Amino acid sequence: MFISFEGIEGCGKTTQVELLAQFLSRRGISYMITREPGGTRLGKIIRKMLLDPDHNEMEPLTELFLYAADRAQHIAQVVRPALEARQWLICDRFADATAAYQGYGRGQDLTLIQQLNHWATGGLWPQLSLLLDCPVKIGLDRARKRMMDNSLDGLEDRFEQHSLAFHEKVREGYLKLAAQYPNRFEILDATLGIERVHEQIVILLEPHLTEKS
Ligand code: TMP
Repeated sequence: MFISFEGIEGCGKTTQVELLAQFLSRRGISYMITREPGGTRLGKIIRKMLLDPDHNEMEPLTELFLYAADRAQHIAQVVRPALEARQWLICDRFADATAAYQGYGRGQDLTLIQQLNHWATGGLWPQLSLLLDCPVKIGLDRARKRMMDNSLDGLEDRFEQHSLAFHEKVREGYLKLAAQYPNRFEILDATLGIERVHEQIVILLEPHLTEKS
């Protein structure tokens, strides 16, 4: 089973990934958690390059190719081997994020993004993509609070620094993707409490829980 979590900044996906992992452990299901960007050793270097607030001169096309490069490495080194080993794989963001952020957010060509995703993923897509949807203001307030709690001294990454309008476009983009691929996407209301969202995820996964992979 291959599941991705998607959503704007502060939608709570990392918390939900952790809760799902604990749930699968209790059920005795072996799983792996991974992320994009940064799911491999090289990917971590790419992630740093992408998110560094010092890299404001980065061209949109450079950014797009770096996400694709991270994805190609991740597929080869993590995703494909895990799926071949019939492991549950939980991915914190995947190729939909490129359509949402670089496509709908930045206005890069969606056909080009589709082609790049096709090559980078090698046609491997999650069976289930969980979109944690919430209003942009709520998400960004949460992301900022997390930053303060982690004493990051107000240092926002390149994406968190973007305007509300950019994040609105990303949110709308995700909702469009969910409408475009209804068989794969489930939209969850991320303004509900952490436990409520987790319960809904468990309900969605219940039919798959007998699968060990
Ligand atoms: P994260 O903090 O949720 O791990 O995501 C890192 C940032 O990268 C986040 O702002 C979303 C952005 N991103 C893209 O712009 N395009 C992509 O393809 C991916 C995977 C992430």
